[in-house]
Amino acid sequence: MAGAAQHAHWSSRWAFIMAAVGSAVGLGNIWKFPYEAGEGGGGAFVMVYLLFVFFIGTPMLVAELSLGRRGQLSPIGSMKKIAQDEKKSHWWSLIGWSGVVGAFIVISFYSVVGGWTLAYMAKAAMGTFSGIDAETAQNTFVGYISDPVKTLVSHFAFMAITIFIVAKGVQGGLEKAVTVLMPALFAILIILVIYSGFTGDFAKTIDFLFNPDFDKLLFKPNTAEAIAAGEPATRFSLDTVLQALGQSFFSLSLALGSIMTYGSYLTKDVKIGKSAVTIAAADSAVALMAGLAIFPIVFAYGLDVAGGGGLVFMSLPIAFGQMPFGIVFGTLFFGLLAVAAVTSSISLLEPPVSYVEEKTGWNRRKVAVTMGVAAGLLGVLSAYSQGTNLLSDIKINMLGLELDIMGVKDFLTNNIMMPLGGMFTALFVGWFVTRKNMMDELALSDKTFRIWYFLVRFVSPTAIGIIFGKIIFDNFI
Ligand code: PFF
Repeated sequence: MAGAAQHAHWSSRWAFIMAAVGSAVGLGNIWKFPYEAGEGGGGAFVMVYLLFVFFIGTPMLVAELSLGRRGQLSPIGSMKKIAQDEKKSHWWSLIGWSGVVGAFIVISFYSVVGGWTLAYMAKAAMGTFSGIDAETAQNTFVGYISDPVKTLVSHFAFMAITIFIVAKGVQGGLEKAVTVLMPALFAILIILVIYSGFTGDFAKTIDFLFNPDFDKLLFKPNTAEAIAAGEPATRFSLDTVLQALGQSFFSLSLALGSIMTYGSYLTKDVKIGKSAVTIAAADSAVALMAGLAIFPIVFAYGLDVAGGGGLVFMSLPIAFGQMPFGIVFGTLFFGLLAVAAVTSSISLLEPPVSYVEEKTGWNRRKVAVTMGVAAGLLGVLSAYSQGTNLLSDIKINMLGLELDIMGVKDFLTNNIMMPLGGMFTALFVGWFVTRKNMMDELALSDKTFRIWYFLVRFVSPTAIGIIFGKIIFDNFI
């Protein structure tokens, strides 16, 4: 354990909060949350999502941060050490392995989409969107993701930025980057919300995001055959609820070792409970603000609220191409997306880097470059699986879904490794670590500790068990 003795630490609580909020706030908030809310029926999705963030996600943040701080090592090293201290099976270190391997897989495709945001920032700045219609916007996007050279360049450019920051270490790289980039991100977002509020359809947005329509959340259209057989037009479905649970995990950076690694850089004086609430509140605020920035434009220009993953890349450019100062606001918007993606991608490269550093004793720069380039190469497969790019014909059947390579990586991590990793983490802290040790680590008031303990022992594993059970049920039973 060569790195153990000089394991790095955040220089202040503020630096840690910025880094953790930076990890949480990413493409998940600005790109994924608005279109999932759009597809999930607006207000009801938002309400359920927020409940999950506060009752399941926040307790899980506390659990991961405390495991990291207790272990003071990479996720694998920390889990091994804690299991040993608690005289429990060394198999618990699989939680750490799942996080480190999962983070490596996620960064390999997160960086591809990160590259798209860089390319779109450049396109916006060059005025490419001026006056484009829906068809041209779609052709521009598909043309770009199908280009083997352009996608390769943007993917590696994004990865190079990530490697550069990670190579400089916790205080010299991560901290310096997030303490500048996060306030900048908040500032850009506020400008965009104000601008959208004045120029877009704000009233409709408020109604859409905050007026819950539970029928839309809980009932899905029935199939034509079922209706013909006399069944009602809609059927009860938990799909969107489960989607909201998965999204709350992804958005809070849970179960991929990132938060655990950031926890390992914490000093004992930082209050984990209070920090977790701050991180979750900031993450949710950004998701809501992203909705407040995007939907007024979507409504004002008559775009499709359920536009899926294309909402940001295929719909918004049409609006930026028509609005006054569209070049400025388009560039700001995609710049915002790129900044949010970078502060998350560094937290995804960090778990594999911290493990290899600890295992080999190599210096950080060498490890960051090696792991970053390796993940970058794996990411080429994802980049080339999009549009009509070189590997787009390869489709792999995963539990009945025909997925491209990027889809397979997303499925493996989001639908299998993250729920399982999260469930076992909750079970470990709730049932296997001595209660007194958790109490000492967290230093919460008695009452708050009891609420937290109840949530991680019972609520989190049950809820996650339901998502995972549902995947198994849908596919094997
Ligand atoms: N939370 C990030 C987002 O919302 O985009 C993504 C992410 C980062 C997920 C780090 C998981 C993780 F460990």
